[in-house]
Amino acid sequence: MVYSGIDAVDEVLDYPFPDDGKPGIPAEFHQLRATCPVQRARLPFGGEGWLVSRHADVKAVLGDPRFSRAATVDADIPRTTQWRTQPGNLMAMDAPDHTRVRRLVAGVFSRKGAERLRPRTTEIVEELVGGMRAAGPPADLVERFSAPLPVMVICELLGVPFAQWHLFRGYSETMLSGGTTTPEEVARASAQLDAFLREHVASRRLEPRDDLLSDIIRAGSGDDAPLTEHELVTLGVTILVAGHETTAQAIANYVHTLLVRGSWAELAAHPERLPTAVNELLRYVPIGGAETMPRVATEDVEVAGVVVRAGETVLPVLGSANLDGAVFADPDDLNLERTANPHMAFGFGPHYCLGAQLAIMELEVGLGALLRDFPDLRLAVPEAEIPWRSNNLVRGPRQLMVAW
Ligand code: HEM
Repeated sequence: MVYSGIDAVDEVLDYPFPDDGKPGIPAEFHQLRATCPVQRARLPFGGEGWLVSRHADVKAVLGDPRFSRAATVDADIPRTTQWRTQPGNLMAMDAPDHTRVRRLVAGVFSRKGAERLRPRTTEIVEELVGGMRAAGPPADLVERFSAPLPVMVICELLGVPFAQWHLFRGYSETMLSGGTTTPEEVARASAQLDAFLREHVASRRLEPRDDLLSDIIRAGSGDDAPLTEHELVTLGVTILVAGHETTAQAIANYVHTLLVRGSWAELAAHPERLPTAVNELLRYVPIGGAETMPRVATEDVEVAGVVVRAGETVLPVLGSANLDGAVFADPDDLNLERTANPHMAFGFGPHYCLGAQLAIMELEVGLGALLRDFPDLRLAVPEAEIPWRSNNLVRGPRQLMVAW
């Protein structure tokens, strides 16, 4: 049966569903996948949209150019945050603009590009692990390890000074926080980050170095559609923000998951299983609340028997797709030896995470060193006392006290 538009599905649910800010997705999605995989929902801002919760449908939406990111720019679309999508950002472009900008940085972020950063990442990780060991237990894994590691790597890559990381961590936290942040606060943080990057772009123009910013400026100065100054700065900001908060929270969340599930010691005894385990952790522990960035239909499109009308907004729920029993055997079990694992933790289609290979490399090097040096790692506080960042687009503990 083909349903049509808003009046076809009786119940409109309020979204986001209540949740405690811990990693994991609200139980409602288990029900939705079974009974209403394209569900009408009332969002806190911009009205009603569609939640898409099954693996096959999420994949179809993300791979379909009729679902646009560019159409979300400056628009009052249904969304979970007050602020609207800003223009000039890679994540908010459609082809051909998206293809043009993405092509410029694709090489640096390829598997080969990520491998080139492995030796320096290993040095950074050894420095951080050494610092933890020297200071002794207990340690806040967030402050000492998971937060600084990806920032150090991304600063290295872009060629911006690491000394200011606390500063831009604050800006990017503001930009990624959900309903609690006002558009003015986001605009201020975004302007500050822009100014920070603009300064570095200007200095690289005068004096190019062996770093990503210099590479992008060089690539943009050829005949082939150069990046505008705004695109250049915004790309730098996007990479800086997207490149550290996600990986930082992933490391902390994965250590937490392995510890509370009693899998840490076993993985420490079998380091060869780490790449497969990282892939499973990516599937099992969602990075955000649940849904990824909204898309707007540019024409009527049928999704799982529901006609999404032109102009309507769809929210693909990656965390739900990754627990879909139609694709994953025993989806609710964390199986660190799972091999068939076509998860969508990094999305799918043209906006597939630019930094996926870099993130995987960092996770392998970072978790690998922690497992090697602290095979008896344990939580230093009762699990119930771990403070979680709530209402944030990227989930994770504010502090994770561990001992060994
Ligand atoms: C565990 C870590 C990470 C996870 C789970 C993750 C997840 C994602 C997801 C799901 C998307 C797609 C969003 C959508 O289609 O709506 C995405 C896009 C993106 N990610 Fe990541 N990411 C991670 C790390 C990184 C890193 C290290 C970088 C470094 C540069 C990065 C940069 C980006 C960029 C630039 C995009 C936008 C790509 C585009 O629009 O073409 N991410 N990421």
